[in-house]
Amino acid sequence: MTVIIDGKAASARVVEDVTGAVLQLEASGHRKPGLAVVIVGDDPSSHAYVGAKSRMAKQCGFNSIQHTLPEETSREELMALVASLNADPDIDGILVQLPLPKHLDSEPVIQSILPEKDVDGLHIVNAGKLATGDLKTGLISCTPAGAMILVRQIHGNDLSGLHALVIGRSNLFGKPMAQLLLNANATVTIGHSKSRDLPELARQADILVAAVGRAEMVKADWLKPGATVIDVGINRVAAPEQDSGKSRLVGDVAFEECAAVAGAITPVPGGVGPMTIAMLMANTLTASGLSAR
Ligand code: GUN
Repeated sequence: MTVIIDGKAASARVVEDVTGAVLQLEASGHRKPGLAVVIVGDDPSSHAYVGAKSRMAKQCGFNSIQHTLPEETSREELMALVASLNADPDIDGILVQLPLPKHLDSEPVIQSILPEKDVDGLHIVNAGKLATGDLKTGLISCTPAGAMILVRQIHGNDLSGLHALVIGRSNLFGKPMAQLLLNANATVTIGHSKSRDLPELARQADILVAAVGRAEMVKADWLKPGATVIDVGINRVAAPEQDSGKSRLVGDVAFEECAAVAGAITPVPGGVGPMTIAMLMANTLTASGLSAR
């Protein structure tokens, strides 16, 4: 029987732990952890994500602040806001929602966030700590950290002898995911758009992590029977004609056919997605420096 990995349940456990820790902090007289989320422009899906992040932060008992800036915001204005949040003692975590409008280069903005407030784990100091195996003092990018919890649910903490393929090499996901798997002793391959034969690489993988942004790209005949499949894709596609007018969310993996071959698989929605927000909460608690960890 294929295990359908329940990201909603796993994320609820993380959120419950964070909420409990915040209550304890307050009971012992500490201030609430503070999270500032910054969004620039009008992109509807970015607004939906940011709204969900701000709401969850409130639910966890955080001091949750959202800064919504107009599309035409200049680099100087955005950097000035980040500088003021860096200096604000009530703010522990800063997240600048990506992508930014075209005229703004995200890199200098991200790198101007204090590493200890970089709850996205995108600052080079945090990326470097992960790359050198320091998982204790840095902040780790939320989606890979959440995906790793789901991998551990199936395989435990030690992935010795297992071959993992990560498809996708972004700084936000593919690279940190590969490093987390490597750190857990997996043998790791990173595949991407320039790889020669992705299906052949995939057939050698005990753990396949797909993060390419191509709807249902990974097919059943790509899989080693019994493999664990972690689907990071969120793609909106037109529904079949019979329910015209509606769209549906699908991952990078053709779920039905792959579920018939996999040993364990994450659904979309309800798999990795909910883990991202949960890990943002966990990172904010860690960043507050008041975490029990
Ligand atoms: N856009 C899509 N996912 C993310 C994320 O995890 N962090 C930020 N900052 N922007 C995103």
